[in-house]
Amino acid sequence: PYRIAVLASGRGSNLQALIDAAASQALPATLVGVFSDRADALALERARGAGIPALALDPGAFPSRAAFDLELFAQIDAAAPDLVVCAGYMRLLGAAPVEARAGRLVNIHPSLLPAFKGLRTHRRALEAGAREHGASIHFVTADLDGGPVVSQARVPVLAGDDAATLGTRVLAREHPLLVETVRLLAAGRVVLHERRIHLDGRALAAPLQL
Ligand code: GAR
Repeated sequence: PYRIAVLASGRGSNLQALIDAAASQALPATLVGVFSDRADALALERARGAGIPALALDPGAFPSRAAFDLELFAQIDAAAPDLVVCAGYMRLLGAAPVEARAGRLVNIHPSLLPAFKGLRTHRRALEAGAREHGASIHFVTADLDGGPVVSQARVPVLAGDDAATLGTRVLAREHPLLVETVRLLAAGRVVLHERRIHLDGRALAAPLQL
């Protein structure tokens, strides 16, 4: 079966969506490991609860980002994943391990990329007066939140929204977006080729809207 590793720093609700989809066979794949930079991440508990190997590494125990990444990816590679999914992984990855895994590493980001890269995306969308907001899944490259976008889910910004209400609306769409996108990747229907997304062998002009 198709093998997925997940990187997560916190709550792990996107991880849970993958766990549930794999368990129900909506996603024909197996989760081979969950990796975190935080020992207290709820994501690790969710993994262990589902019988998935879970590992935390403490960045403070390594002399440099490169040394941390080296150990992290050594552990990940030992699980032999076909795909690595960053699902709420809040630590920067170095260029070297990312470039070595081009096309096999994706991230879910809570905005309609290329808008609002980085942090506090819901607050910034509100401050910018955006009428629409959402989430994106992109292939990870050395360019932070700048890799080719595979898919997006859009939500309206409603009168009276604050970052919490808007973030909740986005998160509800993140889970099915992630499951469906990983399903397409696992089926080999979506691939990165010459830095462009291809679906069923054809280059996409724009991200899939899911
Ligand atoms: C999600 O909203 C995800 O898009 C975001 O963190 C949240 C994690 O939630 N990711 C980033 O901001 C990446 N920079 P979860 O832990 O419940 O899946």
